[in-house]
Amino acid sequence: MLKNYSPTQAKAWQKLEKHYREVSPKHLRELFAQDPQRFETFSLQLEDMLFDLSKNRITEETLLLLTELAEEVELPAAIESMFRGEPINATEGRAVLHTALRNFSDESLQVDGENILPEVREVQQQMKAFCHKLHSGEWTGYTGKQINHVVNIGIGGSDLGPQMVCEALKSYKKENIDISFISNVDGTDAAETLRHLNPETTLFIIASKTFTTKETITNANTAREWFLKKAEDKAHVKKHFVALSTNVEAVVEFGIASENIFRFWDWVGGRFSLWSAIGLSIACALGYDRFEELLKGAEAMDKHFRQAPLRQNIPVQLALLSIWYTNFFGCQTHAVLPYDQYLHLLPDYLQQLMMESNGKSTDRNGQPVKYQTQPVIWGAAGTNSQHSFFQLIHQGTVLIPSDFIAPAVSQNPLGQHHALLLSNFFAQTEALMKGKTEEEVRDELSRKNMSSEALEQLVPHKVFAGNKPSTSIMFKQMTPYVLGNLIAMYEHKTFVQGVVWNVYSFDQWGVELGKQLAGTIEGELLQDKQENHDSSTTGLIDYYRINR
Ligand code: F6P
Repeated sequence: MLKNYSPTQAKAWQKLEKHYREVSPKHLRELFAQDPQRFETFSLQLEDMLFDLSKNRITEETLLLLTELAEEVELPAAIESMFRGEPINATEGRAVLHTALRNFSDESLQVDGENILPEVREVQQQMKAFCHKLHSGEWTGYTGKQINHVVNIGIGGSDLGPQMVCEALKSYKKENIDISFISNVDGTDAAETLRHLNPETTLFIIASKTFTTKETITNANTAREWFLKKAEDKAHVKKHFVALSTNVEAVVEFGIASENIFRFWDWVGGRFSLWSAIGLSIACALGYDRFEELLKGAEAMDKHFRQAPLRQNIPVQLALLSIWYTNFFGCQTHAVLPYDQYLHLLPDYLQQLMMESNGKSTDRNGQPVKYQTQPVIWGAAGTNSQHSFFQLIHQGTVLIPSDFIAPAVSQNPLGQHHALLLSNFFAQTEALMKGKTEEEVRDELSRKNMSSEALEQLVPHKVFAGNKPSTSIMFKQMTPYVLGNLIAMYEHKTFVQGVVWNVYSFDQWGVELGKQLAGTIEGELLQDKQENHDSSTTGLIDYYRINR
């Protein structure tokens, strides 16, 4: 079980407060000037992956004190508790074992007195066999035609992970299968996706851990109606609908054949589930072997996370950095900036992973927290983002730490494109760090033909304070293995943050109230009755009724 404590009472926290007063006035330019080895000192590497922390507002002492904090809150014991399958998701009484889904060792892993690994392997074999049938053309639709389009219907963790991975690894995609995702209950999502599809050659994957999520069940029903409009006979559903769920009973009740169910278990959290049967759409799109490479990449990061000393431990150090900015600098957001078009969905995926996990204000003791927890995660692919929100990162009034992520080799080597892309990556991190002084601006402008009055007016607007922190993450080339590394790194970072903040990272009670109220209002809208609401909600419902 996770220990309960108040991080602000830790000795290291008090030391960090003092240390913050010494370090925060320092400029990164100064820190780089003082230490020519700064890049080496603050870089971490795992196989091909490079994590450069040197452009952060830290000294060696910062990381030592943060690491001391991690030790004081007994992080190593917490890590072991997770890997060993203790019920650390205490508010739901569950173990947290997404790591078991990518554990290729021969060890045994007990949950409730049973070794869970044989069951994991069994479902993996089922997925593999299914993919083989699909890709070889053995699995056909009801008219005997080969399936050429797979549609994943799910939301949240049953959508964001698989969709992000399929997009990130698009260049590895199987040629004879296309993949789409329907998630939003807005009918537009289903209508636009189904518009161009042929029921004879389309297969639906209904992905829902609970199989009770309103959006997913509604979309699944719509897909089945759309299918039956053409296929007519319900017996054909078997060839076109499969389900991924922990709730076998509900799936059977929905009408999906029991042999078409790919199971997983309540010890897999929704936002940590892409490694489970929820990854079936990934395996369909890329082939099962690629999916396995993804799992192996994650396994390598798991081993590193479990074994590396805290100071050399990549997810731990990145989590501690985030604590440094959130709790000492008071930063409220964190930007994720992939310089890889294929990774453009990574910020969306990380939003759920981190904000649903650590967007909490009650600690593990049931008390309100007295410090800030999860910052807002946001971002977009470079270089597009440079032309939208980078202005604020460079010259706005808020401090925004960021992750820049890029491969050294493009999946689409096209002329000079990649060198151009990466020159922007390097330039932005350099510009954010260095900024541009008044003196430099004046010097630059003085070489232009302008009056001294115009020059003086312009100078303050062209100054960049710099000292904006960024972490650079680079890898040789995006592969399923590397992506597995990267995602697992962010998963473990999220866990470490939650351990230090003393919150439960694996529940999500905050999504319940909206669901509950929507259920009530849905009844009112469909049956034309009205409950008592506040005047705003009543006014909005009335507006809808008048105008629908
Ligand atoms: O948004 C709440 C949530 O429970 C997520 O945690 C989960 O990923 C998503 O809904 C979908 O849930 P399910 O897979 O059970 O349909």
